[in-house]
Amino acid sequence: MTRSRSDALSPVDCRPLRGVIFDMDGVLTDTIEFHYQTWQRLADEEGIPFNRHANEALRGLSRRDSLLRLLQGRVLPESKLQELLDRKNRYFRSFIETMTADSLLPGVRPFLDDLREAGIKTAVASASQNVYVVIEKLGIAPDIDIITNVYDVDRPKPAPDVFLYAAQQLGLGPEDCVVFEDAESGVEAARAAQMRVVGLGDAAQVGAADWILPGLEGIRWHHVQGTLGAIAP
Ligand code: BG6
Ligand code: MG
Repeated sequence: MTRSRSDALSPVDCRPLRGVIFDMDGVLTDTIEFHYQTWQRLADEEGIPFNRHANEALRGLSRRDSLLRLLQGRVLPESKLQELLDRKNRYFRSFIETMTADSLLPGVRPFLDDLREAGIKTAVASASQNVYVVIEKLGIAPDIDIITNVYDVDRPKPAPDVFLYAAQQLGLGPEDCVVFEDAESGVEAARAAQMRVVGLGDAAQVGAADWILPGLEGIRWHHVQGTLGAIAP
């Protein structure tokens, strides 16, 4: 566990955190593997080189931005782009059909219970158009106060818009919220929103977070409050 920001507030300035905003893919559930397999299938069908390493760079990007990255400068008519996006999502939806509460990443269920008990508000702010169906399949809709995605705002991550919108919907300010993210673009978005941010996974992706953890397993609200409650957003 590392902390990369150390600008501690005086106790007088400290305001307890009151809300948690989760990214979804790679934070609550491991859809990253499903995204990888569906992009790989599409790339193979189209004769475009792609691999797991290239997929890592797509974390957090919208479907269209991911496709443009995958095409590496190849220019295609809009109708072809749309067909590729639809085909990719069709493949992805067949993976979603298999999801259940067992698809939650380790530690998510107890952490959500802990947040409810502590009276902390919760939101999911995703880049995914599939956010509502995935949250339903995971069986956690009753645990989340606000579900939103980048299509509710003007600019996708790394712009702060979706996190600011989620906080506003929760009735909280940015300084009240902590974001959990697994992607570089998401950490950047949370920082731009002036929120505290926990990065989950690889420091190569989330090195700019306030606190880096391997995942949510074993994490309780008092750990988060104790670690981040006293540093400036
Ligand atoms: C993000 C994922 O959360 O959502 C990306 O990290 C994905 O890998 C993006 O491309 C868009 O998802 P969807 O479900 O709209 O295709
Ligand atoms: Mg993610």
